[in-house]
Amino acid sequence: MIELTDIAYVRSGVADLEGATRFATEIVGLELAEKTEDGVAHLRADHRHHCLALVQGTSGVLASGFEVADSDALALAETELESRGFRVTRGSREEARSRRVRDFVAFDDPFGNRLELASHQETVVRPVAFTRPAGITEFGHLCLDAPDVREAYRFWNGTFNARVSDWIGDAACLMRIDPVHHKLAVFRGDEPGLCHMNFQVESMDDVFRSWHFLQDHDVQIEQGPGRHPQSTAIFLYFLGPEGFTYEYSFGVRRIEDEAAWRPRTFDPNELGSIDMWLGPTKRVSTQRQAVATPVR
Ligand SMILES: [Fe+2]
Repeated sequence: MIELTDIAYVRSGVADLEGATRFATEIVGLELAEKTEDGVAHLRADHRHHCLALVQGTSGVLASGFEVADSDALALAETELESRGFRVTRGSREEARSRRVRDFVAFDDPFGNRLELASHQETVVRPVAFTRPAGITEFGHLCLDAPDVREAYRFWNGTFNARVSDWIGDAACLMRIDPVHHKLAVFRGDEPGLCHMNFQVESMDDVFRSWHFLQDHDVQIEQGPGRHPQSTAIFLYFLGPEGFTYEYSFGVRRIEDEAAWRPRTFDPNELGSIDMWLGPTKRVSTQRQAVATPVR
């Protein structure tokens, strides 16, 4: 079993790097930590050097990154994945440098989502210079698509230390790798892709202030403000350029007593099972996985 210590980053391919970077900074509020000559914009939200890399090229998510404890843990993970039949590629020095990690490996999950395991992601001490005061405190979670969420859980729980926190029928599986109710989720979707990337904010007021701000800036609200009964988080999903869905949320549940927690199952068709405040709950859109390219 491979132990994931945290989520690390999302890499997303964008046809219009300027436009996507402008949105990530001026609208979402992230800091542009660095823009490199090879067309990669690094966006920062917390202690990580960056948690979102926008990569000039074809539109579509390139990879979702997770952290393991150290280089030895990464080497063990690489061996274990290979023994389970995954084709694993080790990143080059330059590729690791672009991710601000010491080393990493890449492979596709059984549903075609490109995953990366990395060690020693860089921490930056300097406070985040947010472009706008959205109240962001950290990169909260990421959500991938798979056609069968139970199969997806078998993969995540069978390969990694991911435990289910709650099921939303066959529509979603919410998983934790630490006390946070979910750092990772899989939503049912036909094609591989990134359903959304979440940022936690400081208060409920931040969620509502952003709701008005986004509407004033003609940003498409996908869902919310609402409240998920599973995590108790107050959420707001909105659509960025090139089909990339962002989420702000506040107040995610923590599961401190592992032994006592029993995963619950919610029927997505029951009133309030997705939004306790009974707002519209049309599924948010997914940014498709970019056609398999060499690691970038
Ligand atoms: Fe979410």
